[in-house]
Amino acid sequence: MTTEPRLRPTSIPRPGPKVARAFLIALGLGALGIGLNNLFVPTALQADSVAQLVGKAYLDQLADFDRHPFLIRSHAAMGSLFVLAAVFQFWPAMRRRYRQTHRWVGYAGLALLVALPVTGVISTIVYPFAGLAGVWPNLVWMIAIIYCAVQAFQAARGRDFARHEIWVTRAAGMTVGITLSRMYGPLLVHLAHMDTRTMTALIFWLGQGEGLIAAEIWLRRADGPVAHLARMKARVRT
Ligand code: HEM
Repeated sequence: MTTEPRLRPTSIPRPGPKVARAFLIALGLGALGIGLNNLFVPTALQADSVAQLVGKAYLDQLADFDRHPFLIRSHAAMGSLFVLAAVFQFWPAMRRRYRQTHRWVGYAGLALLVALPVTGVISTIVYPFAGLAGVWPNLVWMIAIIYCAVQAFQAARGRDFARHEIWVTRAAGMTVGITLSRMYGPLLVHLAHMDTRTMTALIFWLGQGEGLIAAEIWLRRADGPVAHLARMKARVRT
């Protein structure tokens, strides 16, 4: 009698904390690139590549940005500043070495975490390229990011630094997730043949969630703040 070899369940490799951290750093660098591109590359220079990537219709949006530059340039400048502040804040050696600076840059970073999604939502109204469909996703992310930023602020004031790290990493993960949103654009236009306005509304839903998932994976590392809080709770119970 022949016996069938037993099939072992294949384990799907899950991204570990180091991959999640690398992913978040890449999203941060992407966000810095997006911000600096908006601030320093004139529309005439990027028009051809933008038209090829996401369709000619998006040139109307770039023209609208140029007609009313203050809001979008302030938003892009705040986004770029946020990434630079985040590098300083999340770098453990910097945090340890310049404690007082960490505090003040931290308040500025939290203010930027609030100002960025708020100006994002205002942008969907001032530059209504995607119409009302573009407002809703930005409102949802705005509420989520501001909620995390407020929790992070309260935890820092209460000197609960593990909780502070958890909430601020979640807020930052969602914020730099906008890099991924922008990357979905060309895929939706070229592979799914979506029109540029529908694509613009849809990509506002995408990206931030993936940033949040990466933040959660990084936070749940063995020596991370989630494990630290769990150990503290277990100690209190015994
Ligand atoms: C590091 C953070 C951020 C950076 C660097 C950034 C940068 C930019 C830039 C450069 C633009 C101009 C359009 C483009 O070039 O794609 C833009 C537009 C916009 N951003 Fe942000 N942003 C950030 C965070 C956010 C957040 C957190 C939200 C909302 C939750 C948001 C919502 C928007 C919206 C709605 C627009 C209008 C886009 C359009 O209509 O095409 N942004 N952002």
